[in-house]
Amino acid sequence: MKRQMHLNAFLLYCAAPVTRLSWVYPEERIRHQWWEMPYWEELAATLERGSFDALFLADNIGGYGNDPDSIRYGNHFPLLDPAMLVPRLAAKTEQLGFVVTMSTTFVSPYQLARAMQTLDHVTEGRIGWNIVTSVNPHEGDNVGIPLPPHDERYERAHEYMDVVYALWDSFEPDALVMDHENRMMADPAKVHRIDFEGTWHSSAGPLSVMPGPQGRPVLAQAGASDAGLTFASKHAEMVFAPAGTDEQRRDMVAELRRRASDHGRDPYDLKIMFTHGPIVAPTTDEASTIQAEILARPGYDADIAAIRSAAGFDIGAVGPDTRLSEILDQVTGMRGPFEAAVAADDPTVADFAKRFRNLAADRRFVGTAADVADELEALMDFTDADGFQFSPTYYPPDYFATIVDHLVPELQQRGRVRSGYAGPTLRENLLA
Ligand SMILES: Cc1cc2nc3c(=O)[nH]c(=O)nc-3n(C[C@H](O)[C@H](O)[C@H](O)COP(=O)(O)O)c2cc1C
Repeated sequence: MKRQMHLNAFLLYCAAPVTRLSWVYPEERIRHQWWEMPYWEELAATLERGSFDALFLADNIGGYGNDPDSIRYGNHFPLLDPAMLVPRLAAKTEQLGFVVTMSTTFVSPYQLARAMQTLDHVTEGRIGWNIVTSVNPHEGDNVGIPLPPHDERYERAHEYMDVVYALWDSFEPDALVMDHENRMMADPAKVHRIDFEGTWHSSAGPLSVMPGPQGRPVLAQAGASDAGLTFASKHAEMVFAPAGTDEQRRDMVAELRRRASDHGRDPYDLKIMFTHGPIVAPTTDEASTIQAEILARPGYDADIAAIRSAAGFDIGAVGPDTRLSEILDQVTGMRGPFEAAVAADDPTVADFAKRFRNLAADRRFVGTAADVADELEALMDFTDADGFQFSPTYYPPDYFATIVDHLVPELQQRGRVRSGYAGPTLRENLLA
């Protein structure tokens, strides 16, 4: 029997998560603006109706506020704190999970362990943590901690996990006794100091929060480098695989599962998901028209500003017809998307700028629900992955309503997506 797909929604708490300048167009603010609570509540209710595992909220510290052009064009700016949004949405839903992003480089392990365990209570067992080591030096500028080199960030992150695991375990599950007669709230014999002294981190403990319904949050990660894959295969339960050719993705999935086995884990306990923005419409022509309209929107300056913010490289200084391979060695910041593009088809700067973080530029997953379901099934089966994160190419509440009302039923009919939830916690749904 073919495995069922897990589905997430991928957003940031900002106006245009993946389709640059989308906020300019009137159809992008049909009922609510992106910061208004009804916008998010409608979105969350829709995802729950479609039995999505989780709303995943990517994040970084400061958005692209390091570049005046990104501030002007609204490239990941303003960017609000997604962890603060989750309690509101959890109160309005019953089974949808929430994955929030926090950095092992910029948040102390104790603060992280405490925040996540508290969110597990507040969401009644529906919280996940997207573990990031952070990529942009300007995030470090915002918090006053210089960004360490790439592989050191992962070394620190491994030790960081030792601290947070110890903190989560420091409060035994039955330590909270609430014994009124003996006036004992928690049994001190079951709440332990950890006295962790590592190379980079230290913490005395114990954690001041008793375990939530899941014991610890579902752990998510998106490693692409060798160090990143090792980290994901050791710690992550949900893995967001980077873009690449189908063959690269198949090999990466196999590699992740192989490394997970080396760590003594069941390789299929890693749920590996790809991020796409399918465009579904009643006919293939209508879907192609929606895609063409989105791609025809002018926005070269905004695209260039976004790349400058994310990659720390002024791609605008080279001509739009330059091939990416000619400038690859000048990219000092985030290299992953550049390397993947060079390996795939070595686009011009102009083409890459349009595509960069714009899922509408995907040539696949545009058509009727049946067309898109065929392609998703084929990709999942070829790569041995576990599912997809869908990211909105247009006004998110309507985008997800179309996905949930047309694509999800098609996948359910084929037995590839579950109808309803397997249990009350995110982990139960993920492992079902
Ligand atoms: C789907 C997806 C979501 C990601 N979300 C975030 C995020 O919210 N914040 C962040 O700083 N990095 C995010 N990243 C970047 C990854 O954490 C990671 O840095 C990147 O994939 C490069 O891999 P590496 O760390 O192994 O070099 C994301 C990556 C992917 C593919």
